[in-house]
Amino acid sequence: MADALVSALAKTVVGNLNSVVVQEIGLAWGLTDELNNFESIFTSIQLVLQDAELKQRKSEAIQNWLRKLKNAAYDAENVLDEISTEGLRRRANFERGMQHQLKSFISSRNPLLFRSKMVHKVKNIREKLDSIAKERFQFHLSEGVVENRFGETLESRQTTSLVEESEIYGRKEGKEMIIEEIVGSGPEQDDLSVYAIWGMGGLGKTTLAQLIYNDARIEKHFELRIWVCVSDDFSIQRLFSAIIQSTGGGGSDISELDTLQCLLREKLRGRKFLLVLDDVWNEDHNMWDGLKQVLRCGSKGSMLMVTTRIEKVAIMMATIAPYNIGNLSENDSWSLFKQRAFTTEEVNESLVAIGKAIVKKCGGVPLAIKALGSLMRFKSHESEWLAIKESEI
Ligand SMILES: Nc1ncnc2c1ncn2[C@@H]1O[C@H](COP(=O)(O)OP(=O)(O)OP(=O)(O)O)[C@@H](O)[C@H]1O
Ligand SMILES: [Mg+2]
Repeated sequence: MADALVSALAKTVVGNLNSVVVQEIGLAWGLTDELNNFESIFTSIQLVLQDAELKQRKSEAIQNWLRKLKNAAYDAENVLDEISTEGLRRRANFERGMQHQLKSFISSRNPLLFRSKMVHKVKNIREKLDSIAKERFQFHLSEGVVENRFGETLESRQTTSLVEESEIYGRKEGKEMIIEEIVGSGPEQDDLSVYAIWGMGGLGKTTLAQLIYNDARIEKHFELRIWVCVSDDFSIQRLFSAIIQSTGGGGSDISELDTLQCLLREKLRGRKFLLVLDDVWNEDHNMWDGLKQVLRCGSKGSMLMVTTRIEKVAIMMATIAPYNIGNLSENDSWSLFKQRAFTTEEVNESLVAIGKAIVKKCGGVPLAIKALGSLMRFKSHESEWLAIKESEI
């Protein structure tokens, strides 16, 4: 698989970049900056590989991107190999004495020509990598945690209905509006309405859905509440099983779709339920229509709530105007950053202005604010803060 290969290649490249031999040659050939660029490109790409790996099954564009990335990573690895071999050769020559160096200078391989060829090659590959890396922004990939980017892909996107409300800033207006709409709907309700929350990754769709799900008014309004994290790991069987399990268990050993469907309807029949499907990616119209049909067995006022990054999915599924979640306000962004970056007792005043500039760069995306806030907590020098402020994160 391209993604696993890219991850492995990225790791190898970063490892090779840090080898003493490569660094020596880099210094001798004036390539240190180029090689450092390699490292920062690969490090930033590694952050989104986990998400790209998840999304590629549904997106041909991401598959193509990963393929291009893989080829560029191969080129990078090859050129580092060549540099490393050259470094080892030079060391050996040095140990054997100058006489040999002179011999190799007049031999078929001219070291100056070789150097110029390699410098050119490194520059070309770096430019190509840079432009491929930049393409990642168009896919709105989330930056996963670097430490667990290999292996735990699906688990790390799993969500539950739990939320620590004291750590959430803003969103009151949106939350109230949606709750009012749900609770306040009249007696002429449908037996299944669908509400969709959509917006870019990391904006807080899941968080908003959690706030709503756990609100006392919602708890009181519905007889049954069910939270299912859909993500990319979607099959109608898994979905049915998950719903059945959260309504009192059973069904985990059933694989027959028809049996599962009957059991599901039995569990939901006549009950007023709220079903949250978090993180929906699937754009298959027929499948969703089928699912809605199956779910039309609860009592009037039952509701399906979905969160998705894809506007098309929101429009396709919703029966009520979808809610496009906006950015966090400047004040709320700052509160979130402050909570992450500073210990409660002491706020280092000299860092506040730099911190505010860093927050501005996060564009009201809580995921980014939280990540940068957590990063800054371990940096106490003004210079470190300035470096982050000036960086292209
Ligand atoms: N209003 C908020 N205040 C504080 N933290 C927040 C807020 N909204 C979101 N977060 C935090 O930001 C991170 C991303 O939020 P969340 O998972 O809800 O985003 P999302 O829109 O569902 O993203 P995705 O599209 O990847 O599913 C989480 O760690 C969450 O706790
Ligand atoms: Mg989410």
